[in-house]
Amino acid sequence: MAEKLLEVRNLTTGFLTEKGLVKATDRISLTIEKGKTLCLVGESGSGKSVTSMSIMRLIDYANGVILEGNINFKGEDLAKKKQEELRNIRGNKISMIFQDPMSALNPVLNVGEQIAESLRLHQNKSKDEAWKEAIELLRMVGIPSPEIRAKQYPNQLSGGMCQRVVIAIALASKPELLIADEPTTALDVTVQAQILDLLQDLKEKLGTSILLITHDMGVAAEMADHIAVMYAGAIVEQGTVEEIFSNPSHPYTVGLLQSIPGFEGQRGGELYTIKGTIPALGNLPQGCRFNPRCPHVMDKCRQVEPGDIQVGDEHYAKCWLFEEKGKAAVAGKGENIHG
Ligand SMILES: Nc1ncnc2c1ncn2[C@@H]1O[C@H](COP(=O)(O)OP(=O)(O)O)[C@@H](O)[C@H]1O
Ligand code: SF4
Ligand SMILES: [Mg+2]
Repeated sequence: MAEKLLEVRNLTTGFLTEKGLVKATDRISLTIEKGKTLCLVGESGSGKSVTSMSIMRLIDYANGVILEGNINFKGEDLAKKKQEELRNIRGNKISMIFQDPMSALNPVLNVGEQIAESLRLHQNKSKDEAWKEAIELLRMVGIPSPEIRAKQYPNQLSGGMCQRVVIAIALASKPELLIADEPTTALDVTVQAQILDLLQDLKEKLGTSILLITHDMGVAAEMADHIAVMYAGAIVEQGTVEEIFSNPSHPYTVGLLQSIPGFEGQRGGELYTIKGTIPALGNLPQGCRFNPRCPHVMDKCRQVEPGDIQVGDEHYAKCWLFEEKGKAAVAGKGENIHG
């Protein structure tokens, strides 16, 4: 296995609501290797953003609390750090980009200044140096005539250009990890593809690791080295992109794949939708959290929650259908390689 950059173990985040403390993520474990992309996929409301904000400890500002778990980043546990210590890491070694580029940019500062500001802050560059480098960054993220564009304000640029500027700001600190939360969801389809190509390019050129959050399995297929599938606050399946697509195991993953247009597992070429909706936080069913929607539900599923079961090489699913296979796989290997 390649070098690990981020290792999250049993991360559980809660919110205090009128109904009491509810868990938005439940014992999340994931690993991001150096220079690789992990896609976190799942329907809206499954806890993807809460996961990323917890890793960055921005959840503290959204009234959330980390109840349990470790966030090991380069040998340090971010879950245990004070907010002032995190400032050094956030926007520096770890950068984040969000869905809506407009809300990330300052409307009254030209875009060149916004990148230059980040360079001055994180890399102690002089004003002139920072401006020159800001223009180079604009060029790198594919903005034509960067010298002219640098002097423009966000409202003079298209949504796609603004997202490129946001990416340039995120890269200004030369982060080792880029967290991108649905970075293309607000953009039209052709621009989406361009931004994804850009991220892929930058990853290859700069060796940055990426945590890419998306509700779109098609995007994950294109971008991921590893995939973690999230459902109602838990990661229900994870593995390499090859494993997930060639041997999807958890019925929820299978449902997500069957809803991709053109995916071969589709029945009669029709787009499949998973029946039902994600249960509300604080109102999870007993046993497997997917059981009310699962076409394969068994008695046991309604009583006992499944843990991670190994279903392939570097591939795990939380589903009782694989209980026997999992035991055989673990016994056959003589060890459990998870973690
Ligand atoms: N500040 C908050 N207070 C209470 N609940 C929240 C808060 N932020 C998110 N949630 C809840 O956590 C759940 C997961 O949300 P989120 O991580 O945004 O989902 P996703 O990004 O997968 O669409 C949702 O049910 C949402 O209502
Ligand atoms: S454990 Fe049971 S209900 Fe849950 S996904 Fe597997 S078969 Fe379906
Ligand atoms: Mg989200």
